[in-house]
Amino acid sequence: MEKLRVELGERSYEILIDRGNLSLIGERLLRFSISKKIGIISNPKVSDLYGQKVISSLQKEGFEPFIILIPDGEHYKDYFWAYHILTQLLEFGFDRGSFLIALGGGVIGDLTGFVASIYMRGISYIQIPTTLLAQVDSSVGGKTAVNHPLGKNMIGTFWQPSLVWIDVDTLESLPEREFISGLAEVIKYGVIWDKEFFEFLEINRTKILKKDKDILISIIKRACEIKAEVVSKDERERELRAILNYGHTIGHAIETLTGYSSYLHGEAISIGMVYEAKLSSMLGFLDKEDFEKIRNILKDFGLPVNLPINMDLSAMLKTILLDKKNIEGKIRMVIPDSIGKMKINFEISGEDLKKVLNE
Ligand code: NAD
Ligand code: GLY
Repeated sequence: MEKLRVELGERSYEILIDRGNLSLIGERLLRFSISKKIGIISNPKVSDLYGQKVISSLQKEGFEPFIILIPDGEHYKDYFWAYHILTQLLEFGFDRGSFLIALGGGVIGDLTGFVASIYMRGISYIQIPTTLLAQVDSSVGGKTAVNHPLGKNMIGTFWQPSLVWIDVDTLESLPEREFISGLAEVIKYGVIWDKEFFEFLEINRTKILKKDKDILISIIKRACEIKAEVVSKDERERELRAILNYGHTIGHAIETLTGYSSYLHGEAISIGMVYEAKLSSMLGFLDKEDFEKIRNILKDFGLPVNLPINMDLSAMLKTILLDKKNIEGKIRMVIPDSIGKMKINFEISGEDLKKVLNE
């Protein structure tokens, strides 16, 4: 078992990565002083695959788990479904000592974290991420959110989980497209932090795409290590943590304008990473060779690298102006200076942005 720690003082927690550890979660939870009631938030697809394993493991140790199902999809990561979960928790008599488990991808993780942060002013939760994207990114760091029709992740909190429990065997059932989408976030870590890791991914592309378990554990571990380090240094995104949003300014605008239905999250982020790198290159920071490397690695892993045809660019600009990183109407982005090094909160003019999106 690989073990990492997110150092956040009294809110520190462990990330455990292994194969076949889903059925050991009950035993692990005995270490926490919590009441018996545990609410598992999941969706029908993930619950059918892994719900019973988790429930049996919890029951074996004397917990009283019950499952709350949310329909599958980004559309359901909203205020209405958060409210639905809150109602269920009240009806089932959840108290402040009760625990939530997020069993699923980033949608379930974000929604569960959000509910945990506001139920009775905050209860504990753990993340059991079952997509690659959630295992390398969304389950770590405590960002929780629901979407608003006017923008993605606009309503949310910082609320750290008490544990992140990763079973890489769950990736066996993940559809190929979802797996590739998760790789966008993995590649992101190479660009923002670790050139060697970027090169490792380039060299090991075939093994990664074949889902070699050892290599998967090693890339998930490295990704979580980087995220843990960044979050430990800047939990509330005062500055450094913004680098994790590389590709997300443009990526979120694409997701919002395509109604969260044409692109998976990682796919939209892949396009965003390419255009944000292109912007840096156009402004004279990122050299052409590094730009090509970023574009090529994403393309070679099977990720999209071009904006959708007929994208309404003025609507895109408007959406980008709503981004949480902006201050006083000025667009601020993180852009790569070189592979492994970022420029944080760089102010971008609307003109430059239009120019790069038009290319
Ligand atoms: P997702 O949660 O929608 O999961 C993708 C699909 O895979 C779903 O259909 C799901 O049911 C299915 N699935 C999950 N696990 C499976 C498994 N093991 N086998 C088969 N199918 C499985 O999408 P995602 O890509 O995991 O997460 C995207 C979300 O994460 C977005 O809402 C995004 O905003 C959020 N996110 C949050 C953070 C953060 O820091 N909080 C970071 C990145 C992304
Ligand atoms: N995924 C961005 C962050 O956690 O800060």
